[in-house]
Amino acid sequence: MSTMAACIPHEDEVQCCNDLHALLCALEADSSLFLPTRLRERLVALDDVDAGFGGFDSEDSAGCTDSRVHQRAKALRIRLEAANMELYQSVRSDIVRGDQPRALLPWLGGSASGSEPGSPLPGLGFDYRDELVSGVLQLPEPDETDRQTSAEMVPYQPTPVRHILDLIAAVAEEDVFVDLGSGLGHVPILVSMMTGAQSLGVEVQAAYVASAQKCAESLRLSRVQFIAQDARDADLSRGTIFYLYSPFKGSILADVLSALRRESMSRPIKICSLGPCTRRVSNERWLKASALSDAGRIRVFESL
Ligand SMILES: C[S@@+](CC[C@H](N)C(=O)[O-])C[C@H]1O[C@@H](n2cnc3c(N)ncnc32)[C@H](O)[C@@H]1O
Repeated sequence: MSTMAACIPHEDEVQCCNDLHALLCALEADSSLFLPTRLRERLVALDDVDAGFGGFDSEDSAGCTDSRVHQRAKALRIRLEAANMELYQSVRSDIVRGDQPRALLPWLGGSASGSEPGSPLPGLGFDYRDELVSGVLQLPEPDETDRQTSAEMVPYQPTPVRHILDLIAAVAEEDVFVDLGSGLGHVPILVSMMTGAQSLGVEVQAAYVASAQKCAESLRLSRVQFIAQDARDADLSRGTIFYLYSPFKGSILADVLSALRRESMSRPIKICSLGPCTRRVSNERWLKASALSDAGRIRVFESL
């Protein structure tokens, strides 16, 4: 998102300091930058300040050796982050009061096809929505996870939020949504918050499940549940719509797809898929794609 590259060491230092000083003056003069509604502009400003000044946590001041300018940049950074935190806390309070989905809706914008300038579409890159959701959910990243137990199990990688908006469009309030390999759990949490549906996250790493549960409890979300379990052993009998963000491959994916096929014999189900596993899912003869979507976006399949 950054619009300003860091000054590289061999560039003329005076010019570099002047540029950074001008950036600072422009940002400091824009008092509207601190209004809650200017979140996106604040995130760009933070990226610019970070790119220009470098490590604020260390003693080294990259980009500009004038310590007064550096101190001002640091102070501005603190104010920008405080304004973001205030917004995140206020959205959290709205969620706790039960004001969903309105608490988040105005901030999330369109789906993965939305016109986000500079965002990689339809790929898997992140944008301001991911910053917002991360700030609001405050999902604690566990220090340690169990070692990967199989080469067929894919390590945690979160679905970018704009793709979750595609999912939300496919889920109805009466659905039971199941994320197979739910990681830190932001997908079931957002789906439940935005649709009112019951959601379940199944995740093999117990530490991720503990984080997800903590988040759901802190936001008083009663319709989301997480289970620490291998997806192959999960009870899928309540689910009506299943999500796979390429959580596993090979024989594990084959086993889980077979289990889903068995479920589809008792009721119609949908499978939503993102990433490399979509190819494998689309080869299943008991499924048909409900609509053609761009490559790189979530595809929705219905059981026949
Ligand atoms: C690519 S991440 C997707 C995370 C989440 N669904 C999302 O979209 O943000 C894959 C997740 O699947 C989990 N996983 C891998 N193998 C699994 C298995 N056999 N059963 C349950 N979870 C598994 C991993 O620990 C990881 O958190």
